[in-house]
Amino acid sequence: MPKVGRKSIGCAAGVLIVILVVVGVIVVRSIQLSQAPTQPIAFSHIVHAQANRIDCLFCHRDAATGQAATVPAVEQCMFCHSVVAVGRPEIQKLRSAWQRQQPINWVRVHRLPDLAHFYHYPHIQAGFDCSVCHGQVQQMAQVRQVRALNMGDCVGCHRQYNAVAECGKCHY
Ligand code: HEC
Ligand code: HEC
Ligand code: HEC
Ligand code: HEC
Ligand code: HEC
Repeated sequence: MPKVGRKSIGCAAGVLIVILVVVGVIVVRSIQLSQAPTQPIAFSHIVHAQANRIDCLFCHRDAATGQAATVPAVEQCMFCHSVVAVGRPEIQKLRSAWQRQQPINWVRVHRLPDLAHFYHYPHIQAGFDCSVCHGQVQQMAQVRQVRALNMGDCVGCHRQYNAVAECGKCHY
C-alpha cells in the first residue's frame, strides 16, 4: 500500500473519531436537557396553561417586571383549589401544605450558575414570548429545559438583536 493511502486512512480515522466525539457530546447534552425532574406535586402545565387557558403571567407574576419569573405560592393555587378538584390526592397534598403554612419545594428546572445574572423583564418588555426560551411549556406534563441558555446562546442572540455584549452586564 502506498504511503499516501495509509496517511489518508489515518486521517479519515481521525476525522471519524472527532465526529463521533462531537456527536456523543451533543447526544449527552440533549439527554440532559430533555430530562424533567419529578416534582413534589404532579402539577401539569397541560391542564393549567393549555386545557384551562390560564395565562403564564397569572402564575409567574414577576416575569414582566422582575429579575425572576417566580413560581406561585400555595396561596395562589388555593385561589382555585379551595373549590376545584378538592377531593383528589394531589390537591390534598396542596391543602395540607396550606394548612401547615408550608411552601411546596418545587425542583428548579432552569438554573444559571451564580457567576451569571439573567433578568426576565428586559426580555419580556422587548417582546419575546416565553416560548422563545422555554419552548411549548403548555404542552409539557412536566417542565424540561429545551434551549441551551448558556453563554454562547445568550451572546449569540444578543448579537443578533444588537443587545448588550459587555461582560459586566451578565457578570458582576
Ligand atoms: C430570553 C430567554 C427567556 C425568556 C424569553 C423567558 N425566560 Fe424564563 N428563564 C430564562 C432563564 C435563562 C432562566 C434561568 C434563570 C436563572 O437561573 O437565574 C429562566 C427561568 C425561569 C423560571 C424559574 C426561575 C424564576 O425566574 O422564577 C421560570 C418560572 C420562568 N423562567 C418562566 C418564564 C415565563 C413565564 C416566561 C414568559 C413570560 C419566561 N420565563 C421567558 C430565560 C427566559
Ligand atoms: C385559575 C385556577 C387554578 C389555579 C390558580 C391553579 N389550578 Fe390547579 N387546576 C385547575 C383546574 C381547572 C384543574 C382541572 C380540574 C379537573 O380536572 O377537573 C386543575 C387541576 C390540578 C391538578 C390535577 C388534579 C388531579 O389529580 O386531577 C393539580 C395537581 C393542580 N391543579 C395543582 C395546582 C397547583 C400546585 C397550583 C398552584 C401552583 C394550581 N393547581 C393552581 C385550576 C387552577
Ligand atoms: C396555574 C399556575 C401556572 C401557570 C398558568 C403556568 N405555570 Fe409555569 N409553573 C407553575 C408551577 C407550580 C411550576 C413549578 C413546578 C414545575 O416545574 O412544573 C412552574 C414551572 C415553570 C417553569 C420551570 C421553572 C424552573 O424551575 O426552571 C417554566 C419555564 C414555566 N413554568 C413556564 C410557564 C409558561 C411559559 C407558562 C404559560 C404557557 C406557564 N408556566 C404557566 C405554575 C404555572
Ligand atoms: C432570544 C434572544 C435572547 C436571549 C436568548 C437572551 N437575551 Fe438577553 N437580551 C436580549 C435583548 C434583545 C435584550 C435587550 C432588551 C432591551 O433593549 O431592552 C436583552 C437584554 C439583556 C440584559 C439587560 C442588559 C441591560 O442592562 O440593558 C441582560 C443582563 C441579559 N439580556 C442577559 C441575558 C442572559 C444572561 C442570557 C442567557 C441566559 C440572555 N440574556 C439570553 C435578547 C436575548
Ligand atoms: C449576555 C450575557 C453574557 C455576556 C455578555 C457574557 N457572559 Fe459569560 N456567561 C454567561 C452565562 C449565562 C454563563 C454561564 C453558562 C455557561 O457556562 O455557559 C457564562 C459563563 C462564563 C464563564 C464561566 C465558564 C465556565 O465554563 O464555567 C466565564 C469565565 C465567562 N462567562 C466570562 C465572560 C467574559 C470574559 C465575557 C465578556 C467578554 C462574558 N462572559 C460575557 C453570560 C454572559
